[in-house]
Amino acid sequence: MKLNNTFPDQVVSDKKVLKSLNEPDKESKLVVLQSVGYPFLCNLVENPKIEIFDKELFELYAKEQWEGCTAKEGSFLFDQKLLPDYAFKIIKAHPDNSQITTNTSIILMEVKESREIKKIESNVRMNDVIGQERAKTKCKVIMKYLQDPDLFREWAPRNVLFYGAPGTGKTMLAKSLSNELKVPLFLVKATSLIGEHVGDGSRQIHDLFEAATACAPSVIFIDEIDAVGLDRKYQSLRGDVSEVVNALLTELDGIETNKGVVTIGATNNPYLLDFAIRSRFEEEIEFVLPNEKERLEILEFYIKSMPLQVKVDARKLSKCTKGMSGRDLKDKILKVALHKAISEDKDILEWEHVKYALKQYKQKKNEPKEMFA
Ligand SMILES: Nc1ncnc2c1ncn2[C@@H]1O[C@H](COP(=O)(O)OP(=O)(O)O)[C@@H](O)[C@H]1O
Ligand SMILES: [Mg+2]
Repeated sequence: MKLNNTFPDQVVSDKKVLKSLNEPDKESKLVVLQSVGYPFLCNLVENPKIEIFDKELFELYAKEQWEGCTAKEGSFLFDQKLLPDYAFKIIKAHPDNSQITTNTSIILMEVKESREIKKIESNVRMNDVIGQERAKTKCKVIMKYLQDPDLFREWAPRNVLFYGAPGTGKTMLAKSLSNELKVPLFLVKATSLIGEHVGDGSRQIHDLFEAATACAPSVIFIDEIDAVGLDRKYQSLRGDVSEVVNALLTELDGIETNKGVVTIGATNNPYLLDFAIRSRFEEEIEFVLPNEKERLEILEFYIKSMPLQVKVDARKLSKCTKGMSGRDLKDKILKVALHKAISEDKDILEWEHVKYALKQYKQKKNEPKEMFA
């Protein structure tokens, strides 16, 4: 007998069901979605994982048992042979609602860890983010809203765009926001939303907003959001970039009816951002490079946690690091200097080590830049 059941749209993807079984406590709020899951999985002690070594053979095997079945996006095909009732979800059918024949190409998509929707936890505090006062002020409003969504009604903050030079604290601030409030932060890189298969991206976006809504109050942070807009040139090659843009627009608009979910987008290049998406952000907040006083604060803050004794005039260092971001100061100067001192078996980090790091940094800067770096 051939089975080809259609489940309602809100059925969660197999990935999510498997994940929630793996980590019941971590994702408990999402377990709600399991009620429409797969009954045949309930009795299994371990989640079955199939690995296909021969894709052509799998295709033959698939055709043989599913020939004549209807391929409808979102529906499921059940294995009748090796793993009775093992379900395969149809992510994409072209054309939709068509019949599988011996000529149909059947491809099995690999589930990639990196593209799972992640809920992240961090211990960064908002006060650790130095400078960026405007962004912090907005974050305080967002915090008030998430603590009491009913207070704001139609005046709620919803979509905010952080933009500005890389390494200035955009991701750091979003992490601190979720940490201060102990609300979940759903962090995704927009580049990961462009799927390998048409349909992946929009499904990911839908899953992301669904997960965040289920966990509300919560924050969605879409890093490098320009990737979606940037990749428009890519559209002639692939159909799903515009699909990602549209899915994102749908969700950003739809979130208005949801309570307690704030979306923060971040980009180094706001002017490259898809116009329609950019218009959905109620406020654009620029992250600027730190001034001398802020650089000093950043340096002093990170010097405190260094594993060596530091005998460096931070004030002098702050004066000769103009144009550097917080990340540059930490990773390109302090870390390089520290590693230099450690490599020399020194117990004290001194100016000569910092000088070495500054020189390295300067050399890097003078190298010809790659066109799209
Ligand atoms: N304003 C800042 N205050 C303190 N540390 C900073 C600041 N900006 C950047 N950093 C340091 O640089 C790292 C990278 O910053 P990040 O938030 O990822 O930058 P962005 O997202 O703007 O590219 C941070 O984790 C932090 O260690
Ligand atoms: Mg970042």
